[in-house]
Amino acid sequence: MEERRLRIAVAGTGMIGRIHARSARLAGADLVAVAASTPQRGAAAAAELGAARHAANAEELATAPDVDVLHVCTPNHLHGPLTRLALEHGKHVVCEKPLATSLAEAQQLAADAERADRFVAVPFVYRYHPVVRHARELIVAGELGEVRLLHGSYLQDWLLTTADTNWRVDAGLGGRSRAFADIGSHWCDLASFVTGHRFTSAVSAVETAIPLRDGQPPVTTEDVAAALLRTDRGALANVVVSQVSPGRKNRLWIEVDGAEASVAFDQEQPESLWVGRRDGARIVLRDPEQLAPAARRFAVVPGGHPQGYLDCFDAFVRDVYTGIRDGELPEGTPQLADGLRAAAVTDAVMDAAASGTWTEVAGAERAAAATGATAAPHTASNGGAA
Ligand SMILES: NC(=O)c1ccc[n+]([C@@H]2O[C@H](COP(=O)([O-])OP(=O)(O)OC[C@H]3O[C@@H](n4cnc5c(N)ncnc54)[C@H](O)[C@@H]3O)[C@@H](O)[C@H]2O)c1
Repeated sequence: MEERRLRIAVAGTGMIGRIHARSARLAGADLVAVAASTPQRGAAAAAELGAARHAANAEELATAPDVDVLHVCTPNHLHGPLTRLALEHGKHVVCEKPLATSLAEAQQLAADAERADRFVAVPFVYRYHPVVRHARELIVAGELGEVRLLHGSYLQDWLLTTADTNWRVDAGLGGRSRAFADIGSHWCDLASFVTGHRFTSAVSAVETAIPLRDGQPPVTTEDVAAALLRTDRGALANVVVSQVSPGRKNRLWIEVDGAEASVAFDQEQPESLWVGRRDGARIVLRDPEQLAPAARRFAVVPGGHPQGYLDCFDAFVRDVYTGIRDGELPEGTPQLADGLRAAAVTDAVMDAAASGTWTEVAGAERAAAATGATAAPHTASNGGAA
């Protein structure tokens, strides 16, 4: 018997809402409704995206009886309330990062999701680059040896001048952290996903490089952040996050240095992975022939035919829907526990910047254990079998 198609709705039809709608379609779901900031915008988005209808507001989507999965793609302050409402009405949720605008709210959502017995997936989609999976497999296989150092950056320039603004700049809509919650959270998730290490404490500094933006009240959220972190397996990590770095568009760069080898990945060059050893370095191309078996299923076209960000999104949504149908999300799917962990790291980074001292990453481990975190790689040298 043919399975009923999942009925999905998208709340927030800006940059990322459109990508969710596209990936949902490709995964075989029916886009039954959308909602935007006003009914007029919702109607225009429904027509453009081919949704069956538009709702007067996002809350209507969260409570609609004909929606199986709600995609929350609104500004950050609505992530928590809409996810909670949708869970209360029996829906699975794909909630954009950051999961919530405070750690307390993220923790509350974890309890809500457990009570509702529904999935909440969080689009940390850089996990879906095939060479990222390959790097993870190298670590699982022990090829890097003991992981000692994680370092990198996530740099953008779209908020470079005083004329640049966005709802994210307003702490009331974006949350108390901007750059770190927005993009530092991606870096931290990727670092944990690839290595299996979890961040336990942080010391940091943040700066609002542009305290006055045209037509805005004084800005309280950070443009740049620099954090030094420790992991639960004894490694050090260092990340620089910026939304004001000229010429950098979406440069998520990460290197993991082990006792035997290092790997480095640049999100803007996602067709290759650098693997370094003392006696030489090599480039692994995103060629299915060269990739570890667990990475191959994400290589959807042959080598030499570049893949990218949209393919990551498609793979993420496909895996989430498969999991919803099967009753279990595929291993590696970023979910609520991962969003919660990112919220806890962000909170620690912001508290550390305020206090100037090492600050523990609160509660994430406990909450993650209770809600079923993504299984992370372990190697013989750093704590057990994968
Ligand atoms: N996972 C990723 O890679 C990724 C990438 C980009 C953005 N995001 C996240 O997605 C979210 C949206 O970001 P964006 O870049 O698409 O922003 P955006 O400004 O392009 O879009 C936000 C949309 O929400 C709509 N909106 C505002 N208030 C609303 C309301 N009350 N009800 C319904 N819709 C409302 C706006 O009309 C707009 O269309 C953010 O939380 C961001 O962190 C994630």
